[in-house]
Amino acid sequence: MLEAVKKEGDKAVEKTQKRIAKELKSKKFVSLDDYIIERVKKEISDILVAKFSFLVKNLHLEIPPAHITADLSLSLFDLAKEFKQDPKKLAEESAGIINKSKNDFIESAQAFGPYLNINFKKQKIYSLLLKEVSKLKDKFGQNDLNAKKVAVIDYSGPNIAKPIGVGHLRSTVIGQALVNIYEATGYRVIKDNHLGDWGAQFGKLVYAYQEWGDKKKIAENPIKELNELYVKFHKEAEKNPEIEDKAREIFKKMEEGGKKLINLWVRFRKISIAEFKKVYERLGIKFDAYLGESYFAGETDKIVEECLLRRLAPTETAGKDGALTKASEEKKLAKKDPETGAIVVEDLEGLPSFLLRKKDDAGLYITRDLAALIFRVEVFEPDDILYVVGDEQSLHFRQLFALARALGYIDGAKAKHIGFGLVLSGGEKMSTRKGTLIELEELISQSIAKSKEILRQKNKELSETEIEEISEIVGLGAVVYNDLRQSRQKNISFDWNRMLDFEGGSAVYLQYTVARINSILKKVIQAEHQGQSLPSRTVLDVPKPVFEKESEFALAKKMMFFPLIILEAQKNDSPHVIATYLEELAQLFNHFYNEVSIIGTED
Ligand code: ARG
Repeated sequence: MLEAVKKEGDKAVEKTQKRIAKELKSKKFVSLDDYIIERVKKEISDILVAKFSFLVKNLHLEIPPAHITADLSLSLFDLAKEFKQDPKKLAEESAGIINKSKNDFIESAQAFGPYLNINFKKQKIYSLLLKEVSKLKDKFGQNDLNAKKVAVIDYSGPNIAKPIGVGHLRSTVIGQALVNIYEATGYRVIKDNHLGDWGAQFGKLVYAYQEWGDKKKIAENPIKELNELYVKFHKEAEKNPEIEDKAREIFKKMEEGGKKLINLWVRFRKISIAEFKKVYERLGIKFDAYLGESYFAGETDKIVEECLLRRLAPTETAGKDGALTKASEEKKLAKKDPETGAIVVEDLEGLPSFLLRKKDDAGLYITRDLAALIFRVEVFEPDDILYVVGDEQSLHFRQLFALARALGYIDGAKAKHIGFGLVLSGGEKMSTRKGTLIELEELISQSIAKSKEILRQKNKELSETEIEEISEIVGLGAVVYNDLRQSRQKNISFDWNRMLDFEGGSAVYLQYTVARINSILKKVIQAEHQGQSLPSRTVLDVPKPVFEKESEFALAKKMMFFPLIILEAQKNDSPHVIATYLEELAQLFNHFYNEVSIIGTED
């Protein structure tokens, strides 16, 4: 039966391999170099290169603070340092050269301390920008920087027979954001859900089910019931510790392939995945595979063997007299503890020692994780593997990656732990024991209910069906965005007032701005084509747009930077960079909307 689950995994793997191979051949990309922002950067760097014969990589352009009237500013600190020049002098000289040369996009430049302030040929640049946006539409911002790369992203990873909690929510939301961001920079991404679906706890669950399980109740509310059985097991075990041994025996039989027991587990697993998928569907998430720990349970013996045999390079150690002597004894990556029979890894890259196997048990979480890592490397040949998992597991991942390096499966930063902070409630970590853990489904329902309340108050004219529809969008958006708008390393909490604030810093503020934009587009198109069928062109096709007002310039300039924001979010694995940008963009749009009348004007 474990075979059946394994086969299902094999199929998913094969399908994914095919998809990736196909995409590597045929996927089309938006070229980074064609973006107007990149062309402007190139014009500046070409001038600098021609004059100073510097090799200028990565010019760091910034939007200057409000009190500076330039369009862009460029700090010359790093460049000056690299070429051992005085930054102020470098700024002055560069400005002089730029002003003398004939440029496509640059109107003028001034030195300001170590900064170079630059003014654009605004009408030209912003007209080109609008062309770019209307041509690329929702592809605007995507690029081909990583067009040849493949990444595996391991995210969500809930444990079966338990509800998805808020910690897994963070992994799910941040993980999916990273999938989108990586894909936008050209990566082919494999979305793998490493379910917690194997381990000694399932011996306990099966025992509890056999003793106290109620089929009917489970059918009605599967995950809740299974979770309660598990909790009950622990309560009983306090009074009656020998049931721990029974559970261990059951799990041992499961590992040996005991059919009846495995059948039960297969059922629990199925029920759980079906429940998880309901949540994923609501969030618009689709995994390539649910390989999970069970997929790798059969590999752990081989891996333990490999670790026992692997010789570590002899290390130089300081002898008693202070002289360097070669450690005489040959060291192996792992060794067997003669007393307990456990397999231990000691002294690896200075990390605390840890077990690969307890006594005669099979592998542990880390052993299966190592098997999964090796599998990913060999089967998908990725350039990067991302593990989107809470910071509590940071030691686990340091140990895992050190093992994989020692065995030669990865080098450098190919495998990355993308950690994140806790979910707090009243300043404390949420916990099942304290009863403060909110399940994800409950959290989403709460958010939707609050949204409904607000919508009913604010929009008396909405029908009940409209309220249903909108509150689902607003409520879900609030939960997802609350997580994404803050740097992932921070702890988060759920503050409904902030999450549903219509004035800013919330999903609903962005959604409101988008709705406003869409309604303008609709009105413009209607006004132009009264009674006629709707045209395919959009407002952005205006033949010669004219920019006059400050708010127009500010909005256009912000839009122009979007491709760089995507790059930065990918480089730092930081979805919140995009959220911050979007909030600023929405504000600029709303200023523009207040200052400029859009409907009924030609240009
Ligand atoms: N199931 C694990 C947990 O709930 C998370 C799995 C993360 N992924 C991994 N490859 N270890 O803690």
